[in-house]
Amino acid sequence: MDYLKAQSVTTLQGTINISGAKNASLPLIAMTILAKNRVTISNLPQVADIKTLLKLLTNMGAEVSFLEHSVEVDTKPLHETKATYDIVKTMRASILVLGPILARFGHCEVSLPGGCAIGQRPIDLHLKALEQMGATIEIKAGYIEARAAKGLQGANIIFDKITVTGTANIVMAAALAHGETTITNAAREPEVVQLCEVLSESGVEIDGIGTAVLVIQGNGGKLLNIPDFSVIPDRIEAGTYLCAGAITKSEITLKNVEPKHLDAVLAKLEEMGATFSITQDSITIHPLQNLKPVKIITQEYPAFPTDMQAQFVALATQAEGVSIIEERLFENRFMHVSELQRMGANITLNGHTATVTGKTELSGTDVMATDLRASSALVLAALVANGETNIHRIYHLDRGYDSLEKKLEGVGAKIERLQE
Ligand code: UD1
Repeated sequence: MDYLKAQSVTTLQGTINISGAKNASLPLIAMTILAKNRVTISNLPQVADIKTLLKLLTNMGAEVSFLEHSVEVDTKPLHETKATYDIVKTMRASILVLGPILARFGHCEVSLPGGCAIGQRPIDLHLKALEQMGATIEIKAGYIEARAAKGLQGANIIFDKITVTGTANIVMAAALAHGETTITNAAREPEVVQLCEVLSESGVEIDGIGTAVLVIQGNGGKLLNIPDFSVIPDRIEAGTYLCAGAITKSEITLKNVEPKHLDAVLAKLEEMGATFSITQDSITIHPLQNLKPVKIITQEYPAFPTDMQAQFVALATQAEGVSIIEERLFENRFMHVSELQRMGANITLNGHTATVTGKTELSGTDVMATDLRASSALVLAALVANGETNIHRIYHLDRGYDSLEKKLEGVGAKIERLQE
C-alpha cells in the first residue's frame, strides 16, 4: 500500500494545472450509455474513481480506449445490465449507471452500495423518482432490480432533498423517457449543469439548466448522438490548492480553472485574509499575512461545498482565533478531526459542528486518511506541521486527486509517495 511522506515547508511558489472534475466526469461517462455513437471525453482526470467506472462499463460490454487525459467510449456493444458488488462496493457513484441502463434496456440491476465512511448516504430518492417514472423496483439479495418493460415515462419529480447524483441519474433517465419530466429541487452543481448542457447539445430539450427546476423532454427511447466534449475543471481540486497557498502563506497560480465555480470558497478565503488576482481561467492567491478565523456552513451549490469542509478545518488550525465549521450534508464527515488532533490541533466537536481554536503548532506524525477529502486535509496540515508526517491509506486520495504529490512537488513541497 502507498503512503505519503511530507516535510514541513516554509513557502510554496509556482503554477498548478487543474485537472478535469472527477464529479463531472462520472455522470458524463455514465451518460455515454445513452449514445448511439462513439464519444471522446477529454480533460479527464487520471484518478481511480474514473478508472473504476470505465471498468464497470467495460465489464458490461462497452469498448473503452484510453488516450492521455481522454477516453473514447463506445457503448453500442454494451449488453450486460448488472453492476456487480465487486465494483459498486469500491465506488458508490456506480449508482449513476442505474438511470441510463434502465432507460436504454428497460431493466437494470445494481448492487446496493452499502455503508460509507462519511455517513449513511441512502439512494432512496433515486429509486422513488424512477418509480414515479414507471419503473418497478425490488431489492433482492443486496441488489436493486429495476424494470420498465415499456420504457420510462416522463413524470413530475419533487426531490425531498437536493441530491447531486440523484439529479444526474434522473436527468439521464428522463433524456430517454417518453414525454416530459420535471425535476423540482434539482441540484445546481456545475457538474450537473455540464451533464445537462451536453445532453442538450445531443438534442435533448432541457429547460432551466442551472436552476432548481429542470424540465426535460424525453427522446422516447431513441439513443442520442452525443458530441465529443471536454470536462469542466475540478473546483474541489482547485479549492484544495488554494488552501495549500493560504496555509503556507504562499503565492500559487492555478491554471485551467473556472473561477465562478469557486465563489463560495474564494469568499471564505477572503474572510480569512486572502487576496487574489483572477482572470477568466486562472486564480493567483497572494501570500497572506495572518490567517483570520472563519464561520462556515456547508450547503448545496452555490453555497459552501461539503467537499471543502475538511480542508478548511485544517486551514482553521492556523488561524488566530476561533473558527466554527458546521457540516450540514453528511452526518459523519469529521473523521479528519481526530487525526488533526493527533497532530496537535485544538478542535472540539459538538454534533455537526467543529470549533477550531488556533493558531496551534502542528507536529508531524503518522496519520490515517479516512476518506477522499479528509486525506487532502491531512496533506495540508502536513505542509505546516513540524517535522515529518506520514499519511497512510492514501488510496482514498487517489480516488479523486490527479497526481496530488507531483503537483505539490512542482510548487516546492517536499512530499513523496512510498510503499508501506
Ligand atoms: C455528491 C458528490 C460528493 C459530494 C456530495 C454533496 C459525486 C460523485 N459525489 O455525492 O462528492 O460530497 O454530492 O455535494 O458527485 N440523500 C438521501 N437520499 C438519496 C440521496 C441523497 O437522503 O437518495 C442525502 C445524502 O445522504 C446527503 C444529501 O442527501 O445527506 C446529499 O447527498 P447527494 O447530493 O446525493 O450526494 P452524492 O450525490 O452521493
